[in-house]
Amino acid sequence: MTDGVLILGASRGTGLEVARLLDRRGDAVTAFVRPTTDMAALLQLRVRLFRGDILDATSVQGALASGSFRALIDTVGGRRGEPRPDYHGTRNLVDAARAAGVPRFILVTAIGCGDSRGAVGPRVIEFLGPVLEEKTLGENYLMASGLDYTILRPGGMTHDPASGTAIRTEDRQVMGMISRADLARLVVDCLDEPLSIGKVFHTVDPGIRQEAPLQRGQGFPGGPVQ
Ligand SMILES: NC(=O)c1ccc[n+]([C@@H]2O[C@H](COP(=O)([O-])OP(=O)(O)OC[C@H]3O[C@@H](n4cnc5c(N)ncnc54)[C@H](OP(=O)(O)O)[C@@H]3O)[C@@H](O)[C@H]2O)c1
Repeated sequence: MTDGVLILGASRGTGLEVARLLDRRGDAVTAFVRPTTDMAALLQLRVRLFRGDILDATSVQGALASGSFRALIDTVGGRRGEPRPDYHGTRNLVDAARAAGVPRFILVTAIGCGDSRGAVGPRVIEFLGPVLEEKTLGENYLMASGLDYTILRPGGMTHDPASGTAIRTEDRQVMGMISRADLARLVVDCLDEPLSIGKVFHTVDPGIRQEAPLQRGQGFPGGPVQ
């Protein structure tokens, strides 16, 4: 396989939507999946699978060595009760990409990271503060790496079909909602646009009037994520 794209987080959510878009247009896609991953949706696509865990540096290095990749797309997000992958996973991937000579790296994080903390309300910090800190460390590590990065930060996310009205902006005060399908389209746009290299974007859909539940002061079951 030559000039393929390696996606981490492709089993569901945004990563799966990215895999669908790339598969539909004939790009060679490798999906990095855990041994426990439900691969039902991925098996509908013509993607190659590589098994590992982003928190296991050896398997991440193995994935990079398994093909000739022109880009990495990292949409990995943690679940409650699992070790957080946001910083250590990103670090493993950045280190492996540098060692393998794969410069292009697209990372999905969240509005509220880094210089965008002022865009989110107090409830977001209360419930997701430690997650945002981990993601910030991941962003910083990538930005300092010398790789050709693009970072996309969504706010609240839906599972709705793509509206086609989502945008990306460098305005760090922008907060809002976006569907995973629209975010995936913006990810692929960045993959195709060299001018997006070195940029951090907030991604929102101005067509969604509702604020994200945490942003409008609601909590969610289970309390703050530690
Ligand atoms: N949920 C929101 O409203 C929201 C808001 C802002 C930002 N974000 C962030 O946006 C990104 C995309 O979120 P999403 O909701 O579309 O995706 P998601 O449904 O959270 O999917 C997460 C993906 O990461 C994979 N993953 C988790 N831990 C892993 C590990 N240790 N090694 C390898 N893969 C691992 C999962 O694989 P498995 O199938 O094996 O679990 C899955 O494919 C995430 O970074 C998320 O934190 C989410």
